[in-house]
Amino acid sequence: MAENDRNDGPSLQEQVDLLQQQLAQAQRLTALGELVGTTTHEFNNVLMTIINYAKMGMRHKDTATRDKCLDKIFHAGNRAAKITNTVLGMARNRATGQEPTDLKQLLENTLLLLEREMNKYRISVDKDFDSIPEAYVNGNQIQQVLLNLLINARQAMPGGGRLLIRLQHDKENNMVDLMVRDFGCGIPAEKLPRIFDSFYSTKSGPDASGKGGTGLGLSMCRDIIESHHGHIRVNSTVGKGTAFTLKLPTAAKDNRPSVPAPITPAPNLPQRSQLK
Ligand SMILES: Nc1ncnc2c1ncn2[C@@H]1O[C@H](COP(=O)(O)OP(=O)(O)O)[C@@H](O)[C@H]1O
Ligand SMILES: [Mg+2]
Repeated sequence: MAENDRNDGPSLQEQVDLLQQQLAQAQRLTALGELVGTTTHEFNNVLMTIINYAKMGMRHKDTATRDKCLDKIFHAGNRAAKITNTVLGMARNRATGQEPTDLKQLLENTLLLLEREMNKYRISVDKDFDSIPEAYVNGNQIQQVLLNLLINARQAMPGGGRLLIRLQHDKENNMVDLMVRDFGCGIPAEKLPRIFDSFYSTKSGPDASGKGGTGLGLSMCRDIIESHHGHIRVNSTVGKGTAFTLKLPTAAKDNRPSVPAPITPAPNLPQRSQLK
């Protein structure tokens, strides 16, 4: 008989469950920390716009200028509301509920949060969006995945570069394919099998923008994608870049998993092929 059956302490299974919960919590906090860093900068930017147009409106009494200023303030205010909503949504959301979601809109919202950061690091973003059906996902969770993939891509191009985001409909499998591809440093073949491991990082710590270095990003991405009955795949070539492709179920009624899978890490070695 196993030792555990005789003592009153937590069983091995209970201990594993607890550690998994703690890991999921660490992943969430890391993602939230990076999001707060990103959004605070974006938010500040919006506030500067509001303050400057308010000043202008106070200086100029004519209706035309004031109308223009109010319009700018209104739009900046809306942007600020979008930014805070994202943070609140992510801080609040622990549920794994999935619903039909417009991935194109989700991507646009996520890119909006990173606009300043991408400009700062001289990253140009190319979008190649096919018309795709809605995906059956938890928007907050997929947004966390996107933020991590986009920030990783940005960090792989320290001198600036190009980022390509592609959305395609895989009709045969009733899935939506979302690819985030950078033209950065790439990942050596011997490191590739480890990148999804929790706490595996080749970064010395958070960068100047306070991001990365925990090794929790991709492990979180994988856990989230697997809980969606999807797949995450990586192709990378040193010196040429890296492409991560997500496969997510469409919202077609007969395509939805009946029971949402729990978020539990499972061994899953990435597939590899050469990037052109
Ligand atoms: N786009 C990419 N290009 C090159 N290397 C990458 C890329 N994405 C991830 N990696 C590698 O995978 C490791 C793990 O990534 P991640 O789990 O997000 O942790 P972190 O970003 O905190 O290091 C990174 O440290 C890096 O070595
Ligand atoms: Mg990361």
